[in-house]
Amino acid sequence: MAFELENTVPWGRNLDEYRSMFNLTNSDLDKRIISFGDGPASFNCEMTALSKSVVSIDPIYGFSTSQLTGRIEQIKDIVIEQTRKNLENFVWTKIKNIDELETIRLLAMDRFLKDFETGKIEGRYLNHQLPDRTQFDDLTFELGLSSHFLILYSQLGFDFHVACMTEMLRVAREIRIFPLLDLNAKRSELLDSLVAHFQTDFVVGIEKTDYEFQKKGDQMLTIKRR
Ligand SMILES: C[S@@+](CC[C@H](N)C(=O)[O-])C[C@H]1O[C@@H](n2cnc3c(N)ncnc32)[C@H](O)[C@@H]1O
Repeated sequence: MAFELENTVPWGRNLDEYRSMFNLTNSDLDKRIISFGDGPASFNCEMTALSKSVVSIDPIYGFSTSQLTGRIEQIKDIVIEQTRKNLENFVWTKIKNIDELETIRLLAMDRFLKDFETGKIEGRYLNHQLPDRTQFDDLTFELGLSSHFLILYSQLGFDFHVACMTEMLRVAREIRIFPLLDLNAKRSELLDSLVAHFQTDFVVGIEKTDYEFQKKGDQMLTIKRR
């Protein structure tokens, strides 16, 4: 299916948030990491600056820096306004208020945009749409992440999730998915069936993390090889 720029809502988080969302320890950060649906997050850029190894996968990487800059400019006020209308759905402790949220998100996306061309040349940003098979051999990575993509977009359905997660588990020894809520901020109705599906062959767990911005969105799914 073609991936249209006008249907995308590029919105990105930073390394500090990724560390909290995925309970990333210092030794996790030293792992070879692949991050799916990474969008305009500054995770890859900040990790690269620390000499860590991250490959990010997203269909928005097929667009140019100026196209993505324009799209972020188009949607940022809309996203902030939607959040302002739903303030009670979020926990305002770490991020104190909507102005701080806007600053943090725009800074993360600005970092990404400045790093994007270099990162593409270095093979750190790959234009790729799951569940298509990636270019990597089995178990190329120690850790695979999905922040605010799988499970959050529960409407994509059970079969889509199984196909994406199967490909993630082909290339990575362990995967972590955050959050476990859907776009309506409800526990995803796919969660139990995904756990049941993968626990036949893998070690599956649900862990509390110390990141909670969406209310009750403080858990991640972990799936590891036995
Ligand atoms: C809400 S953004 C999250 C960005 C980043 N992970 C973060 O948390 O800051 C969701 C991302 O998933 C990407 N995405 C949507 N469908 C995808 C697919 N089939 N395969 C890979 N990425 C996809 C979107 O392009 C978008 O960049």
